[in-house]
Amino acid sequence: MKPKVYITRRIPEPGISLIEQSCDVILHPHDEPPTHEEIMDHIRDKDALLCLLSDRIDREIIEAGPNLKVISTFSVGFEHIDVAAATRKGIYIGYTPGILTEATADLAFSLLLGTARRITEGDRFLRGHGWKTAFSPSLLLGTSVWGTTLGIVGLGRIGKAVARRARGFNMEVLYTKRNPLPRDEETNLGVEYRSLEELFEQSDFVSLHTPLTDETRHLVNGARLRLMKPTAVLINTARGPVVDEAALVRALQEKWIAGAGLDVFEKEPIDPTNPLLHLDNVVLLPHLGSATTQARSKMATVSARNLLAVLHGEAPPCWLNQEVEKIRPLTRTKML
Ligand code: GLV
Repeated sequence: MKPKVYITRRIPEPGISLIEQSCDVILHPHDEPPTHEEIMDHIRDKDALLCLLSDRIDREIIEAGPNLKVISTFSVGFEHIDVAAATRKGIYIGYTPGILTEATADLAFSLLLGTARRITEGDRFLRGHGWKTAFSPSLLLGTSVWGTTLGIVGLGRIGKAVARRARGFNMEVLYTKRNPLPRDEETNLGVEYRSLEELFEQSDFVSLHTPLTDETRHLVNGARLRLMKPTAVLINTARGPVVDEAALVRALQEKWIAGAGLDVFEKEPIDPTNPLLHLDNVVLLPHLGSATTQARSKMATVSARNLLAVLHGEAPPCWLNQEVEKIRPLTRTKML
C-alpha cells in the first residue's frame, strides 16, 4: 500500500509531482489555508504531512495522526509546529534552511533601500498624478544608505547574508547575537559586536533576523524603539511578533524613528484597520522574503525530499529534530 500524504497547499513544482510518484496524495485545493478541523480530519489516516508556516500544527493535530511519521514544512521557520510533541511521538520534522537565505537577504536590503529612498511613496505620488514640476530640489528627500551604520539583530545565515550586502554599500555593520562570533569570523565578515541596547542607539538602520521564540517575542518594544535615532529605520523580514507592533505604530506616528520596512506582521494577513496602512513612512510587503521563483521551487523540492526520505527510512536532507531517532529509528519509518 502506498503511503498516504496530506499537502496543505499547492506548492511550486516539482514538489507535488515528486511525492505523487510514490504516494497517495490529498492536496488541499485552495490558496486559503485549511482550518484546524480540516487538518485534524485529514491527518487521521496519513503517514506524512507537508505544511506551510501559516498552518498551526499543534499537539492536538499531532496526536490525531497515529500513523504520522513525518512533518515536512515548506519554510525555514518552524514556530508553527509543536516540535516537542512531534518528537515525543517519533515524528520526523523536515524544513528548508539555507535555501531562502539569499532571497530573504535581497528582500531585507530592498526594504532598506526602498524605505530610505522612499521608493513606494514616489511611485504612489507619480501614479496619483502628483508630479507637476519637472525637477523639484526638495521633492521626496530620503536618507543616505552609503557609508551609514547597519545594526543586525540575529547574525545567523540570513543576517550574515545581509551583512555581506551591506559591505557593498560601505556600511559599518554592527550585530548582536546571544553568542558572539569568534573574532576571526567577525573580521572576515566585517562586523562588530554590540549589546542590543548599544546596537539600537548607534545604528542608522536596524534589521531583524532572529527566529521567533519566547525570548524574542516583542524584543523590539517601546523602550528599545526609544533608543533609536530619530533618523533611523527599522527593517523586519523575520517574524512579526518580534516587534511590538502597537509600540512601532506609536514610534512612527510620533517620529521617534524615521521609518520602517516590514515584510512580516503580528497578524498575517494584516487587518484592513491596521494603522500601519495609513502611514507614509513605511514600506509594507505581504511576507515575500523567499518569494523568488528559484527559491520557492528549491523549497518545494527540498520539502518533498525531506518527506520522501523518511518514508524510505532515510535521514531527511534538512532535518530539524535529530533526537527523534532515539524514539523511532529510521528503520521503522520505511514504507517505500
Ligand atoms: C519564511 O518566512 C519561512 O520561514 O520560510
